[in-house]
Amino acid sequence: MASKLPQTFHKLVATKLTPKFREAVQIKEVPMPTPGPHEVLIKNRFVGVNASDINYTAGRYDPDIKPPFDVGFEGVGEVVAAGDKAKVRVGQAVGYMSYGAFSEYKLVRAGTVVPLPSVSKAFIPLIVSGTTAAISLDKVGEIKNGETVMVTAAAGGTGQFAVQWAKQAGCHVIGTCSSEDKVQFLKSLGCDRPINYKTESVKDVLRKEYPDGLDVVYESIGGEMFTTCIKNLAKRGRLIIIGLITSYESHSKGLRSTSSLADLESIPSILLSKSARMSGFFLLDYGKDLIPYCKKLAELCGTGQLQSNTDQGETSPGGPLRGGRGLYQRGGVFIQWKKPWKGGCGAECSGKQTLRQQISPRTINAVLIKFIIIKTQGVKISVSMMQMMITLYVHGK
Ligand SMILES: NC(=O)c1ccc[n+]([C@@H]2O[C@H](COP(=O)([O-])OP(=O)(O)OC[C@H]3O[C@@H](n4cnc5c(N)ncnc54)[C@H](OP(=O)(O)O)[C@@H]3O)[C@@H](O)[C@H]2O)c1
Repeated sequence: MASKLPQTFHKLVATKLTPKFREAVQIKEVPMPTPGPHEVLIKNRFVGVNASDINYTAGRYDPDIKPPFDVGFEGVGEVVAAGDKAKVRVGQAVGYMSYGAFSEYKLVRAGTVVPLPSVSKAFIPLIVSGTTAAISLDKVGEIKNGETVMVTAAAGGTGQFAVQWAKQAGCHVIGTCSSEDKVQFLKSLGCDRPINYKTESVKDVLRKEYPDGLDVVYESIGGEMFTTCIKNLAKRGRLIIIGLITSYESHSKGLRSTSSLADLESIPSILLSKSARMSGFFLLDYGKDLIPYCKKLAELCGTGQLQSNTDQGETSPGGPLRGGRGLYQRGGVFIQWKKPWKGGCGAECSGKQTLRQQISPRTINAVLIKFIIIKTQGVKISVSMMQMMITLYVHGK
């Protein structure tokens, strides 16, 4: 191991099961590990904060999990030490998906990391959000050229990739979102029919403009949106359940749909009458697809064929979301998303074309605040995609 590494480092550890992230985690200082023969030690430069993080700290993903446990799903960083059988060299930029990413350093099996052309924040959204979209639309949605695909939360972290992936497959894409800014953003991704559900009724648009129904739905919201989608499936339509975001703030241990019982009871007859189907999709159940898809997404991103948008937080109250203390003092967390920038993954975001959105305190506010305490100096926190994809950039020292 390189001698310049510190002897200890900090990480977030869940010490309590709750969807309130701030209450769930504590900062721990732990000894620097030495990689085993097949392992690499990564110095994290960016980590992604996902909507699903609070499901993990609530114990919803693993009913048997007991605190303390490490949190955070994904990171991009640089290999700083490698076991003698690891086929990844020190200095290589890599991305990985592994529990425990909210940490300054992370030991990962060398065979599970994805080599990247550079340590760039643009790669972060690909690892969980991008792969979720691409794998589920291919393997579960079985999308085909000419089909009509609807993406809910389309301007979100994973939604942005679902829109682009379906467009690249030759589909007609409808995307739901909550603001005019997001409508413009979706158009810039190629979305054929963005629907701002705050100003238009999704039900009415589907009834009037899509009388033949939806071939595939990429559904992240649950509740009424889920019900609307399933009722509008086409013959042989496929609905992919990606998430139930409207239920995440609840304290229940399992994931509970917010759909009414009456709506749920009608599902069998709807599916039967249309020869339609609905399937859950959980990324970790598609482990063998993860690395090939991640590589493919990184390649598309690197050549500018896929946009991967991150947020720098420039329009936050009090300025950019960097320097933990400032963020902490602000109390409320605002995040913004950037308009797509040119130049693909290698390019640094530039300009100040940000759009403001208020982050829901029920989601991830606590993540930021806790990270601030970890490092009050030398941490630049950049807020990534939309409301819940956040990257934390730890300055190299
Ligand atoms: N199954 C899997 O393996 C997997 C993997 C990754 C993510 N996911 C799921 O995918 C979904 C999106 O995740 P993400 O990380 O892409 O999140 P994200 O970037 O924050 O996007 C979520 C969007 O959902 C919309 N939304 C609607 N109702 C909401 C509510 N009550 N609370 C918060 N947001 C609401 C918001 O967009 P508008 O304001 O435009 O409505 C929000 O921007 C989540 O359900 C997540 O759990 C699943």
